[in-house]
Amino acid sequence: MKFFADTAEIDDIKELAATGLLDGVTTNPSLIAKSGRDFMEVTKEICGITDGPVSAEVVALDHATMMKEAEVLRKIADNVCIKVPLTIDGLKTCNALTADGTMVNVTLCFSANQALLAAKAGATFISPFVGRHDDNGSNGMDLIRDIRHIYDNYAFDTEILVASVRHATHVLESALIGADVMTAPPAVIKGLFKHILTDKGIEGFLADWEKTGQSIL
Ligand code: E4P
Repeated sequence: MKFFADTAEIDDIKELAATGLLDGVTTNPSLIAKSGRDFMEVTKEICGITDGPVSAEVVALDHATMMKEAEVLRKIADNVCIKVPLTIDGLKTCNALTADGTMVNVTLCFSANQALLAAKAGATFISPFVGRHDDNGSNGMDLIRDIRHIYDNYAFDTEILVASVRHATHVLESALIGADVMTAPPAVIKGLFKHILTDKGIEGFLADWEKTGQSIL
């Protein structure tokens, strides 16, 4: 499963990229606003840190203006992935852009039928929002299971990008179901490295090593 960082914070992206485990980045208008940076400038900087897809979202609601915005965004770098909302105009835009070889991430997916439409529109990625689904009283991971089933039934190439990931269990379940990608805030990704028994184990080994009076270097 690929790991994308769901952020526009440069320091966090650099730190994760240095682990060698970062496969891409997703942003949205809220994350850009939170960064306080210029959209074009920060997107360009992120594209220079990772070779993987960097999602940049259009804000227009109609197809013609979405195409114009996409035209500007895709010139930023070769690894820009245009993010469009799951609406009729969004999927029209997805269809036109992917026919042209541009990567497209269809966002704000909350049903398996929506995911089916996005795959038919040729989406590179579909982003079902599991956390927001949970918040709304549904089980977000059931949605991922259903989409996996449908995409496998028809051998769709669209990658399932689990979004709105809030905790480690979302990551684990995504991997168990066979999602292609998950995008999570840096704090959630960094938390995956941690286990109390790992820390305790290191502490014990170092205490015993000290008793030997030896050194490796
Ligand atoms: C990513 O592409 C999504 O925009 C993001 O994961 C949404 O997460 P949130 O529900 O925590 O805002």
